[in-house]
Amino acid sequence: MSKVLVTRAVFPESIESLGKRFEVVTNPDDTPWSPDQIAEKLAGCSAAMSTVLCKFDESVFARNPQLKVVSNIAVGYNNIDVAAATKRGIRVTNTPGVLDDTTADLTWALLMAAARRIAEADAWVRRGDWKVAFGMHSFLGNDVHHATLGIIGMGRIGQAIARRALGFDMTVLYNNRTRLAESDEKRCNATLVDRDTLLAKSDFVVVMAPYSPATHHLIGAAELAKMKPTAILVNTARGGVVDDAALVEALRERRIAGAGLDVFEGEPKLNAAYLALPNVVLTPHIGSATRATRVTMCETAIANLTAVLDGRAPPNLVNKDVI
Ligand code: GLV
Repeated sequence: MSKVLVTRAVFPESIESLGKRFEVVTNPDDTPWSPDQIAEKLAGCSAAMSTVLCKFDESVFARNPQLKVVSNIAVGYNNIDVAAATKRGIRVTNTPGVLDDTTADLTWALLMAAARRIAEADAWVRRGDWKVAFGMHSFLGNDVHHATLGIIGMGRIGQAIARRALGFDMTVLYNNRTRLAESDEKRCNATLVDRDTLLAKSDFVVVMAPYSPATHHLIGAAELAKMKPTAILVNTARGGVVDDAALVEALRERRIAGAGLDVFEGEPKLNAAYLALPNVVLTPHIGSATRATRVTMCETAIANLTAVLDGRAPPNLVNKDVI
């Protein structure tokens, strides 16, 4: 019976489903393992089912020549050295599609929360600071309706974010490596512009680009300087796509109005300066975190690894050039 390592805690039904076909090695304490620990636990395993912060590097693969597939329970896969896996004939799979709407919803939750200062106001009420009824100047925020939304990275999730803007009568700009099909542009009511135009014109800038060396600090000091002083930045893509140190400075000096962030460089150890800033809303990488979506992501990951172990093509192969 093939052995499968599940690197972090998942749902009991997912383990049960895997257990019907495979011997399953779990991580009962849900400890985030280092690559060294992953390499050790993988002994004898043909497959790994992993989450976004479990690092699979060359050393993990070198120590486990029996490994056939790393099935990431995520759409992103920057935790995996895909080139090293490909070189060794190891399949890498992900879970695209099933989390688009849930992640788009969270993006909007952060956008709205930052625009209308929800976290700040909630903390104020809880502290007992609400002493005088209805202040004309209390918590003045930014209008979302009829504003301009700029989306950098217009894949499936970016488009789901754009479609939600229709209900707010927004102008939607996007920047992407390739232009969308005309029918998709129409559906999203979105216009392709260059990045500088998007940064200069948008009231809300949403980053939805995957992390790679090419997108490292895609939004840094220079890009933040191009944004309106009234604008809000939202990042629900990956830590590292935004330069956290530059963003802290921009928020501190009110060079932009606010931010909503779900992902951070070096998470869970985020830049401590964020904690002292009232104009940023922080969530702990929960873009896809609804039970229904997370269960579906696990099912998708199981289908991917099962296909590989059965000698079939997995539905969501990342390294299509693997032999
Ligand atoms: C989550 O961050 C994912 O990539 O699915």
